[in-house]
Amino acid sequence: MDYVGLYPVWYEPGIGSGWIVGLIATVHVLFSHTAVGAALFFAYLAHTAYRRDQPELLDFIKRYGLFLLVFSYVLGSITGPGIWYSTTVASPRGISALIHSFVWKWATEWVFFVIEVVGVYMIIYLVGKVDRATHLRISVIFGLASYGTMLIIIGILSFMMWPGKPEWFTEGGYLNGFYGANTFAQLALRTAFMFTMTAVVGGIVAGAIKDTAFKREITRKLALLGMASAVIGGLLFQWYMATLPETAEVIAQNRLPEWFSLSLVVALSVIFAWFAATWLRPGLLTPALASAMTLVVLVFGLWPEETARESLRKPYVAGQYVYSNQVIARDVPGLGIRSEIPLLERQGFQHSQVFVPQRLKTVTAENAAEVGHSLALTTCSNCHSLSDTGMRPLAGYFGGNRDVAEIQVYLQGALVTGNTLYMPHIPLNDAEAFALASFIAGMNRTSPLHPEPRRVAVNATAATPVTQSQE
Ligand code: HEC
Repeated sequence: MDYVGLYPVWYEPGIGSGWIVGLIATVHVLFSHTAVGAALFFAYLAHTAYRRDQPELLDFIKRYGLFLLVFSYVLGSITGPGIWYSTTVASPRGISALIHSFVWKWATEWVFFVIEVVGVYMIIYLVGKVDRATHLRISVIFGLASYGTMLIIIGILSFMMWPGKPEWFTEGGYLNGFYGANTFAQLALRTAFMFTMTAVVGGIVAGAIKDTAFKREITRKLALLGMASAVIGGLLFQWYMATLPETAEVIAQNRLPEWFSLSLVVALSVIFAWFAATWLRPGLLTPALASAMTLVVLVFGLWPEETARESLRKPYVAGQYVYSNQVIARDVPGLGIRSEIPLLERQGFQHSQVFVPQRLKTVTAENAAEVGHSLALTTCSNCHSLSDTGMRPLAGYFGGNRDVAEIQVYLQGALVTGNTLYMPHIPLNDAEAFALASFIAGMNRTSPLHPEPRRVAVNATAATPVTQSQE
């Protein structure tokens, strides 16, 4: 008997593991992008301060930098490892795929990150203590190191969407995987929006400035930065969308919630209006209002964007070869990786997994629903929550249907054949499809449309020999 290397599934009832990763990642994006944008903005402010002899600009760097130490550096350093912990259990083979291709890239990112953390302390605490040329050099190194962290992470994020060049599949090579059309479009898009976030969050600090003339100057600088970057980001979004795989297009057109593009347009317009208002009336800017705007960015901008990026990557979690449910979907000769689909087709899921209890390996009339639950966890739960809440709740897609046979027909027509573009090819054998259908029918308990579950025992006995003949 051969096995596929699937780990036990981590599943959070009520939300599903995907949303936990998504929540942590969304918050992390706010902290990290704000910090990188601020680092570059500080380099600009430091140059302006020395050129025009405006020490109050250095004072602003100090205040915003101190604020970021807690806001971005402490909280960002908690959510960053949070992404590691959560993805390692939610998607162990996705993370493994990334580490196998990019471990040195990540090590390099760490070097930049350490420079960035030291840099933020230096730029804050060395104002007035080192000569001007040294301080300027620190500001530039700090800015470039911060941007370096972003560049590297985006190469890896783009690889998750799809490997940079098709040759990567046959030849391997991290540069082939790292640089593709999506890398640069995504870098440009994120660069624009990171300045938007820097400008929004900077308002929390600028709003508290007492000196009216200086507050006006800083508020206007932030407003210009925010307006320009929001408009440029909105335009770059089109470029980004044009660099996505074909499956993403199908999802973007048919499968994203209707409110998705609306929410992005509304978020961008509200942000733009906010900056326009504070440019005209800098007195409007208060820490409380700026904090509220930060929440708008988080909830109406980043959350839809991060969840959409996750959806657009479907059915894969990484590199167009690891499915979200952790099955290896295709051969990757460049890395010596073989597709697991043929093995699953031959043996079925339950017999191919190490961590499935012996009593759930073979489907019987008694254990069908339980085997089905185990299959739902392995094959569906990475993308569909098994409760009524959370990410794409599974029961919701079956319209309350409690007819096991009908559900089984759907599973075998759409999933076993790999017919949908956005879901993995899930080669359940007949007995497993029946078991999963029994579980799904049982989930639809409270449906007024289908009050009585259909008797299923006949199918169960018919199903049993099928698995046995697979052994
Ligand atoms: C890679 C992620 C992923 C996995 C794994 C996955 N699905 Fe889906 N599924 C999706 C997406 C994305 C949609 C489309 C969502 C939408 O339209 O709101 C979808 C839609 C559906 C639908 C709606 C009808 C259709 O064909 O679009 C059903 C039913 C469904 N999934 C069942 C399942 C079952 C059962 C499993 C496990 C055997 C499963 N899915 C595994 C991502 C996945």
